[in-house]
Amino acid sequence: MTKRPTILVTRRLPEAVEARLRRDFEARLNPDDRDLGEEDILAGARGADGILTSAIDRMPASLIRRLPDSVKIIATFSVGFDHIDLEAARARGITVTNTPDVLTDATADLTILLLLAASRRAAEGERLVRERRWIGWRPTQLLGLGLQGKNLGIVGMGRIGLAVARRARAFGLSVHYHNRRRLPPEKEEGAVYHETLETLLPLCPFVTLHCPLTPETRHMINRATIELMPPEAVLVNTARGGLVDDEALIEALRSGRLFAAGLDVFEGEPNLHPGYLELDNVFLLPHLGSATRDARNAMGFRCLYNLDCFFAGRPVPDALT
Ligand code: DGY
Repeated sequence: MTKRPTILVTRRLPEAVEARLRRDFEARLNPDDRDLGEEDILAGARGADGILTSAIDRMPASLIRRLPDSVKIIATFSVGFDHIDLEAARARGITVTNTPDVLTDATADLTILLLLAASRRAAEGERLVRERRWIGWRPTQLLGLGLQGKNLGIVGMGRIGLAVARRARAFGLSVHYHNRRRLPPEKEEGAVYHETLETLLPLCPFVTLHCPLTPETRHMINRATIELMPPEAVLVNTARGGLVDDEALIEALRSGRLFAAGLDVFEGEPNLHPGYLELDNVFLLPHLGSATRDARNAMGFRCLYNLDCFFAGRPVPDALT
């Protein structure tokens, strides 16, 4: 029998995924879901053939350069890969894979949840009821914003952006988008393309971010771009916290320049900017975009499929390097 590849797994994974890992690999699991630092990863990867990591376990060049030569593949349990230095992996001949497609619907659903929750003041309403401060229905109580007939600006029209666009139309929103490239008409389905944020933002009272975090996109939502939005606009972010300059967003929410925000991701998470916690007009979730049982299982199995293909010498479907 050929030796089963050894895989260091940096996070506790769904049960079915770990069962399959134990069956087909020499799996070095993390049953307590401990945060592994660089030194833990280096120690755990000694003699390993691959690493199964996640969106919150950073793999910078300094770590990748020191990985043992035995490590040939890093499979990340995420669609985003900004936490891995791809150049450094390429330089070491390490294949990196991610998990596209399988979390698209879950993340698009959560985007709509945030859009509605922020626009309709759901957090304030929930607190009112839960804290027994609700005095009963009033014609002017907690009035929010309706979506019908307004424009939604989607920044980043990849798989998730497109899935959000489909859902948004059902709420009567017209879709505008900014993307590096214009999509073909059959994918646009009537969405209006903007080559720049400068033309998109002034037209959109609702804006949602779906682009990757790169040096170019970091803090793309900042004082200047917020000023381009219509007064009392709503911002949603289920992509990466680093896309937003927190100070600028908090200032705009505090002053009422923006009506509300719905945020699932934060720069430096889980340590989000404390300014958000003082605001009523921000709806906060703890990075739950892909957090359905179906999506998380599918993400795990997608990682395993990539590992299977790699070790069988077959083309690796989600190879990024
Ligand atoms: C991803 O996949 O990149 C998310 O942030 C975690 O689901």
